[in-house]
Amino acid sequence: MAPERSISELAELIQKNAKILEDGTKGQRGINFSLTFTLSPAAPKLDASLEVAKAEAIEAADELKARLLGPFLYLGSLVLPVPPTIVICSCLYHFNIGSHIPLQPGSSITYEDLAARCGMPLDDLRRVVQAAVAYRIFEEDTPDISVKHNNISALFGLAPGMADVLNQLAEDNPAGAMKFVESLRRYPGSGEPGHSARMVAERAERGLSNDEVADPTKGFFDMIAEDTARVTQFRNMMDMTTKQPGYAASYLLDSVPWDDATRCPKAIVDIAGAGGDVSKQILRRYAGVEKATSVDLPEVVEIAEVPEDLQGRLNFAPYNFLTETMSHEADAYVFRHIFHDWSDQYAVKILKNLAPALRAGTRIWINEVVLPELSATDHINDQRQRSADIMMKIAFNGKERSRRGWENVFAEADKRFRIQSIVQPKGAIDSVIEVVFDD
Ligand SMILES: C[S@@+](CC[C@H](N)C(=O)[O-])C[C@H]1O[C@@H](n2cnc3c(N)ncnc32)[C@H](O)[C@@H]1O
Repeated sequence: MAPERSISELAELIQKNAKILEDGTKGQRGINFSLTFTLSPAAPKLDASLEVAKAEAIEAADELKARLLGPFLYLGSLVLPVPPTIVICSCLYHFNIGSHIPLQPGSSITYEDLAARCGMPLDDLRRVVQAAVAYRIFEEDTPDISVKHNNISALFGLAPGMADVLNQLAEDNPAGAMKFVESLRRYPGSGEPGHSARMVAERAERGLSNDEVADPTKGFFDMIAEDTARVTQFRNMMDMTTKQPGYAASYLLDSVPWDDATRCPKAIVDIAGAGGDVSKQILRRYAGVEKATSVDLPEVVEIAEVPEDLQGRLNFAPYNFLTETMSHEADAYVFRHIFHDWSDQYAVKILKNLAPALRAGTRIWINEVVLPELSATDHINDQRQRSADIMMKIAFNGKERSRRGWENVFAEADKRFRIQSIVQPKGAIDSVIEVVFDD
């Protein structure tokens, strides 16, 4: 293990990388690392070397904070924000606070007017918004009197899917987290979706028994299937996530060798492609892909739309990867953010259902996390990926997988699956796993 750096060395690292970032982005529209709301265009992606500098600066700042706070206050800094953050997100969601604050840079609203518009008692509204300001969401204009957007809170007005993200943060995630231990005690070692913590919470909310679960194979997706609003909400939340730096589908698109016509598939199937976002990006980027079929559960494809420019190349079809064998022929199959929703027994089932459609040499491209070993130098990445792993367990009884985990799942599904390569593009949270089907 590398020797521990002094706090002044950490500060120097922050200084060095901050300078690299400032110099490297000087004059670029949309990047000024400011929290002031300016209606600047969406931040362009930083190039790979600047992403490295950013990651180093954030990692050093995170360590410096932990070291300066010391054990007790550091633990407090992790635990204390949990309830207020849930409260802030819940109020932002249920009282739609962000939408009542003028979306013009510099324009403010008094707490009194804001409370009236949101239908919240004035004192409670002020306390919640001031707590949000403390966490750098919104900015006070006149102390105790008025508030305005900053660059962070402006997202609630500018990005339509943010309400759905807030709902997830405020409702679904905390409800599931509170039932995590109960789910482990009730159903130890279970890989069934219906035994996830989120499902324990859902049954409790609906007054249903957790002692006798009628059908433990039914999980989160079955539960929301009955409710079009929740299906749309989940899809919007996923669309928002797909657009975030680090999660962008462009990393997958940059990693496939499809500029080479001899390696570009003519037909692809995007398995569980939701609203078809990834298929749309693939078709627009790779003219050689003549046809993409985005398959998902019937209630999902029912509300999906083919945009004008992709008529004739993109189509949607219903497919249940747990109960049906794949019948759509393709040269490549794409899975993005799918397997981590499922425990190993289900991941194996999905692959077994795919295998009958595959020919020798068919490629499968998976865009998902490949968990590295815990790092001594990148806790930020570890925090993100290990948190995602816990979230997958809470919501679905799913998991993020290490290379070994992926190898095991493929080997159990069919010996003809062979992992050809695993690449984690610089700046990306997910890896791109290329799998070849051998004969
Ligand atoms: C996390 S989303 C990923 C969506 C998309 N691939 C993306 O990257 O944005 C998981 C998708 O799996 C779909 N899904 C869940 N259970 C399924 C099943 N049994 N068969 C097919 N699709 C399913 C959901 O409807 C949802 O669209």
